[in-house]
Formats: sequence, structure tokens, C-alpha cells
Amino acid sequence: MSQDNSVVRLEDYIPTPYSIDHVSLTVRLDPLETFVTSTLSIAPREGGSEEAALTLDGDDLVFVSARLNGDVLEDSAYSASDEQFILKNPPQEAFTLELVTKLAPQKNTQLMGLYRSNGAYCTQCEAEGFRRITYFYDRPDVLSVYDVRIEAPVEVKYLLANGNLVDSGTMSTPEGYPEDQLWHYACWQDPFPKPSYLFALVAGDLARVEDRFVTRSGRDITLHIYVEHGKEDRVDHAMDSLKRSMKWDEDVFDREYDLDIFMIVAVSDFNMGAMENKGLNVFNDKYVLAKPETATDTDYALIEGVIAHEYFHNWTGNRITCRDWFQLCLKEGLTVFRDQEFSSDMRSRPVKRISDVQQLRARQFPEDSGPLAHQVRPEVYSEINNFYTSTVYEKGAEVCRMLETLLGKEGFKAGLDLYFDRFDGQAVTIEDFIASFEEACSVDLSQFALWYRQAGTPDLVATYSYDAAREQLSLSIEQSCPPTPGQPTKKVMHIPVRFGLVGRDGSPVGFTSVIDANSGQEIGKSDCTVLEIRERQHKFILTGVSKDAIPSLLRGFSAPVHLRTNLTHDDYLCLMGHDTDPFNRWEAAQFILMDHLVQQTRALQAGANTSSHALDDSILEALKACLMDDSLEHAFRAQLLQLPIESDVGREIGHDVDPDAIHRARESLRHALSTALGDSLIDLYKALDDKDTSFRSDASSAGRRALRNGLLDLALARKEEAISDLAVAHYHNATNMTDRFAALASLTRNEMPAANALLDAFHAEFTNDALVIDKWLSLQASAPQEETLQRVKDLLSHPSFSMNNPNRVRSLIGAFAMNNQVQFNRKDGEGFKLVADIIIELDKSNPQTAARLANNFRSWKALEPDRQGQAKKELLRIANTESLSKDVADIANRCLQ
Ligand code: PHE
Ligand code: ZN
Repeated sequence: MSQDNSVVRLEDYIPTPYSIDHVSLTVRLDPLETFVTSTLSIAPREGGSEEAALTLDGDDLVFVSARLNGDVLEDSAYSASDEQFILKNPPQEAFTLELVTKLAPQKNTQLMGLYRSNGAYCTQCEAEGFRRITYFYDRPDVLSVYDVRIEAPVEVKYLLANGNLVDSGTMSTPEGYPEDQLWHYACWQDPFPKPSYLFALVAGDLARVEDRFVTRSGRDITLHIYVEHGKEDRVDHAMDSLKRSMKWDEDVFDREYDLDIFMIVAVSDFNMGAMENKGLNVFNDKYVLAKPETATDTDYALIEGVIAHEYFHNWTGNRITCRDWFQLCLKEGLTVFRDQEFSSDMRSRPVKRISDVQQLRARQFPEDSGPLAHQVRPEVYSEINNFYTSTVYEKGAEVCRMLETLLGKEGFKAGLDLYFDRFDGQAVTIEDFIASFEEACSVDLSQFALWYRQAGTPDLVATYSYDAAREQLSLSIEQSCPPTPGQPTKKVMHIPVRFGLVGRDGSPVGFTSVIDANSGQEIGKSDCTVLEIRERQHKFILTGVSKDAIPSLLRGFSAPVHLRTNLTHDDYLCLMGHDTDPFNRWEAAQFILMDHLVQQTRALQAGANTSSHALDDSILEALKACLMDDSLEHAFRAQLLQLPIESDVGREIGHDVDPDAIHRARESLRHALSTALGDSLIDLYKALDDKDTSFRSDASSAGRRALRNGLLDLALARKEEAISDLAVAHYHNATNMTDRFAALASLTRNEMPAANALLDAFHAEFTNDALVIDKWLSLQASAPQEETLQRVKDLLSHPSFSMNNPNRVRSLIGAFAMNNQVQFNRKDGEGFKLVADIIIELDKSNPQTAARLANNFRSWKALEPDRQGQAKKELLRIANTESLSKDVADIANRCLQ
């Protein structure tokens, strides 16, 4: 096991004894000998402890020299190692410290700090990468104004940093370089004080696409997107998304852009999705590049969302930043909420909500129910990189959404306005954030704030009954929250439950008032739409309910909880057919299908054969009615067609999980549905054929494609040759990647013999297009069949794969571990072993990406005993690996606890 058990605690926070008000950096670029000269204007903080030593962070640094107020420092006045620079007796008034370090970006395989991607230089500093460039107070509460001068040979065409370009030109060739080598420089100034994690530098021979945006106050902003040469034709959608984001943030949140230029750079080697560096966002190219022939509708939507997310960070993250990394959700939760809202406005709100909830359930719920569960605002960490999680991001966004639900749109806006006003230019905490809403709305949010401090997904059990004589509907909701690591018991939370009533004939039903039966107080009239659950057992009475009605609860998924009710199947069928809340129509269908899958899986595990439980006819009829209902959006109907995913079924079952049984149950349900829906699937598929071949990427065109492809996929569950032929034709006739890849994926996942030849053809056609090859890799890795294990092993040595590129690793190994429940969780342990081997290997070059892969072990404790044993063996093997990184050790050790 790793011996490094040092942890950082929220309660230990203290400000630095010195401030660094100004940073002047000169970076002379060279693949193996880059010199960084950093001149810091430092001053003791008022009230800071007097004569404290100045201790700056470093990571893997080569120290060159140090000067204090211009004079070379005596050896005895400081100490410098790869991890720290200490100035022993700093002056007690303002002073300047000049530090020189030497870097080898070409050798930086961690992709943190300054590194190279396809020949270009770029940086990644969040969370603690700046200390790999120069010594600094590398923490978010130290805000400085930066001046940056970049020097490089002229072949390194563009020299970029944060802020505005203030000077550029040619320079004399530095000593040690061939005299005929021409050099140039560029100077950038960022007037906004920022923490070091927002620093960025990019330099390289890239292609540039230009545009403009005029802000609502009339300022003209230059927009530049930089990509590798030859990719210029894939930038339109990203640029358009950027302009729409800028406009939307003005319209909806009154946030205007603040510099004269906004730049995006797409690089092909990147650990995460993208990074919001001030004025110079650096992106994984996967979230920038799109054209119809290579990107799917899903890619288009993701790009729009990520571009918006990074742009929105300019206010939520950059102008107002985090005091310390425990507050990460302050910027991430809020910014995810903002990008979700943006996408909802650009596309279909219900469809977006459903897909966000699908994602929350697929990623955050498993985290929250296993050994890696943590608070939205954690209180202790050993490696901060491991806290860029779905809990911090997606559950953090849910907490913002609940605030909006509780305070109403106007109250929420008032709170945010106060937050922007009061904290602009500061590094703040969740408490500051909450206080803004309390003050703006005169409410007490102390119980609500538990959402930041208690891990785990709360369980709600709702029971309703109708009293016809009294015309009353009573509703009792009981809450509990399962134990999570370090939190055996939980306090009672404040949970918004959006609701309405639906009559048994499908018509909406009204009420006259809502009474809180716990207090006896009337808390709402006929327009009440949200119940605020604040007690362990909270009971409400709706009066004036003239006829028997079904409560539609948690509309729009108003809280990230697990809800069970005493609604019957018939109640759910009624909601599915008639609820005015589209989310709950979809949710009702999911509930029925999930219930069926759980029962079927249990039966299979108990030894029954596959067709033990037939699917109820009434369910089939209801599903068919929705599918054929032209008043419903195509994209929504496509979502109705998707059965609960296997990992969700596993979590619903909770323990003794057998992924093979789940897979068999789900396949047999698909087969049953496909058979029962029969020709209607293909008829509708054909009716949806759009003769217009010009590609439009808008939501409604994408929705039509999604439904059409979903129908074809379900039809293929019957594994009939005629349908396989149809899918092959669909592949060949496709005029865009969405349709083409959908056909390939359906043929592959449904194990149709035609798939293999098409997989080869697809590879041949897109050999040189890495982002398309990623789809090809992940599709093969997610195929449930037995041979997949060997195929993934073979692909590891395929020329299209590289262990050095995070996108390739995630596409092959990440997809195998995340999307292939059957093969990753193989009973013989070979799936775990393969992933563990990769984690151990990758850890040597890129610990951050290795640790992300290790997260896939998070649900191992819910497996049946044999599989548990296999998973544990591999986790122990990982944990006991010599010189394991802190990143991977942290995940493995927490999984094992
Ligand atoms: N802050 C980035 C975002 O969410 C994510 C990120 C974290 C990128 C750490 C790189 C490194 O927008
Ligand atoms: Zn973010």
C-alpha cells in the first residue's frame, strides 16, 4: 500500500501569510529546455503571522536561480527542491522575488503543467499544475494580475496566453541556438486578478478560425478558435455555440464578457473535457470538432454544452472563484446547472432533463451508493484530482436546481445577482453562496445546506390515499439516507417535491389547499406545485380534491433522490399516458420497465428460464400508444424506447448482483417488446425517412434521427435477417455519422453476423480520423459477447490505439469498464484483471487518467460473492503495486475500505 497517507482538511484552512499581487512570466519555449522566469510582487498580508517563511509549491521542478529585489540570493537565504521553494526570512514589506526554473515539456506525459500535444505547446494548471511550471502559492485563494512574455522560434507560429495581446515582434536569437534560427515573442496582459489554476499558455503552428461578437453594451469581441491544420472545416458548430452562449448569458443571467478577445484551442491530448482558463480556453478536441460526416448528433449536443460550460465559467469560476478546492462545486455545480439550462433553452427542455437524469443515475448514483461516496462539498481529500466527480459536478448542479425550485425563478435570480455583486473578484465558499440566497430571499437555508455536507442518495417513500367522503388526498413522505463512508447516520434533509394530481381518466385534478399535517398549518393554495419535505416523516393533506386522483410526484426530478411509492402499475400506466409533466411520463415508463427487469433478474438468478414473466399487455399497449403519438416529440419518444441500462438495474437490486442475469433479463425484455410491437416498428421507421439529404444539426432533426435509429435497434432485437439487411442498407445509405454509426452499433450490439465486415470497412474509411476511430474502439469494447475480452486485448496493440492518448484509452478501456457490465464483471475475473493491468501500466505515465479508470471498480461491493472476490483481488493487486501514484492509491484504498 502507498505509504503516503497525508490528507488535506477543510477545517485546517488558513490564508497564506503573503499575497502575490503581480506575476510577470517570461517563458522561452524549447521541447527539452524551456526556461521560465517568474517575477513575483509579494507583500505580507495584514494580520499574517510576522516573519513567517515564504513557502512556495513546486512539483517535479528543476530550480535554476533566485533573486530578491534584483539581487542574487545567498545560498543560506533559501532552499529549493523539486517540490518547494522556501525563502527563509522574507522582508516584512513589499518585495520582488525572481525565480527561474527549467522544464522539459516534451517529456511531460502526465499532461499537467506545460506539455506538448501533436507538436504544439499547451498548459493545464487546474488543479495543481501551475506548480509544475514555476514555484508559487498554487492554491485558488491567491489572486494575481499576470503579464506573460512568450519566446519561441518563428515556426512556433502562434504564441498565446490569457488576457489581451499587448506586444509582439521578432527578437534576437537566444544564446545557444543556431544563429540563422529566427525567433519571435508575444506579450499578453490579463487585467483580471486570477488564481494560478486559470493560467494558460499555448504555442504552436495551428490553424485559426476567426469571428466576432458584439456584447449588449456594444463592445466588439474577437473570437478565435485554434485547431490542427486541416481541421478548420470542423469548427463552425463550436463557433456558433460560443456566440449563442455569449448571448444567452447576457439574456438570462445578465453576464457580459469582459476581455477584448476570447480564444479556444483544441488539442488532441487532454486529460479532461476542457478548461476554462481566463480568455484562453483549452479543449479536448473531441468537444470542438464536428462535421456531419464525422460527428454524431450526440457529439453536436456535447460540444454545444461543453463550449457553453467553459464560457460560463468566466463568471462562475473565474470572476468569482473558490477559496480552496473543497469548494469545487461552487464553480462546477453552478456552471453545470447553467450549461444544462442553456441546452434546455436551445433544445427541448423535457428531453434535456431526461437525458441529464439518465446521466445522473448512470454516474452519480453509483458513486453515491458505493465506497467512493463523498459529499458535494468534501471535507477531506488526499488527492484533489480525484474529486472532479459526478457528485461534485452533476449532484452539485442538482443542488442549484433545487435552490431554484425552492426559491422560484425570481428568488433564485435575486440571490445570484447578489452573489455576483458581492463577491466579484474574490475567492469564496459555499457558505458565502448560500448566504446570498438567504439574504436576497429572507429565508433560512441551514437545513437545505445539508445537501452539501451529507453524502448518499436519500430514499423517499411516498404513500397516498384518497378519502372520497372528505374530498381529501393525503400524502405521507418518509425520508432516510443510507450510511456512507465516514457518515453512519444522517440528519433530516430539506427536499423539494414538485407534484400535481392526475385523474384516473387522465385529466388534471385540482385542489383548494395544501395542509402540512405535521404542523396543522395551511401551506399552500390551489397553485401550490412544490412540497417542501423537512421532517423524517412528513404528511400533507390536499383538500377539495373532488375525484379520485393519482399524485404525480417529483415532477421534473425535482430532487436527486430515490423515490418509492404505493402507486400501482395501473397508476403508473395512467401517468405514463396522461401526465402533463413529460418527465414523469417517461419516469412512469421507466418505473414499470425497471420493476419488470428486477423481477425477471431475480427469477433468473433463482434458476428460472428466460421467459418466466411475460410483459403485461397493458404495458405494451401504453408504450405503443406513446410511440405512435405524433403529438409527442420524436426525441422524447426515442427516450421512451430506451430500457433502463444494466448498471441501473444492478443498483436497483443493490446486492448479490449478477450482471449476466441482468443482461439476459434485459435482452429478453427487448426481444419481447420487439416481437410484440412487430411491424409497427419498421413502419414507423420507414415513415420517418427524411428524403431531404441536406444535414441539419438542430434538435428536431436530431430527434427524428434518434427515434428512427432507436426503432431500428429495437427491431434488430428480433435478430431477423431481413432487419439486419435493412440495417446494413441504413449504414450504406447514411449521409451522416449519426445514422451510419447507429446502424453499425446496432448490428454490433445485437451480435448480427453482418457487423464484422462493416466494422472493418468503417475502420478503413476513417483510419486517419482519431475521433471517429474512438467510436470504433468503444463500440467493440462495449459489445457484450464473450469474445470481446480477447478483442479488447488485441486492440491494445492495434496501430490505431495508443496508451499515450487519453481519448484512445477512455474509448477502449474506459468503455469496456463502464459500458460493458457483462464483460468487465466476468465471473472468471478476466475483465477486472485486464482493467487492473492497464491501470497499473498507465499509472507510470499518466496517473490522473489511470485513477479515473480505477473509479470503475466503485460498485464491486454490490456484486455476488464470486465476482466480489475477483474484484477485490485485483483492487489489492493495484493497491500493492510498488511506487503507485497517490492518485490511483487513493481510489484503490477507498474502494477497499
Ligand atoms: N475545470 C474544468 C471544467 O469543468 C475541468 C478540468 C479539471 C479540466 C481539471 C482539467 C483539469 O470545466
Ligand atoms: Zn467546469
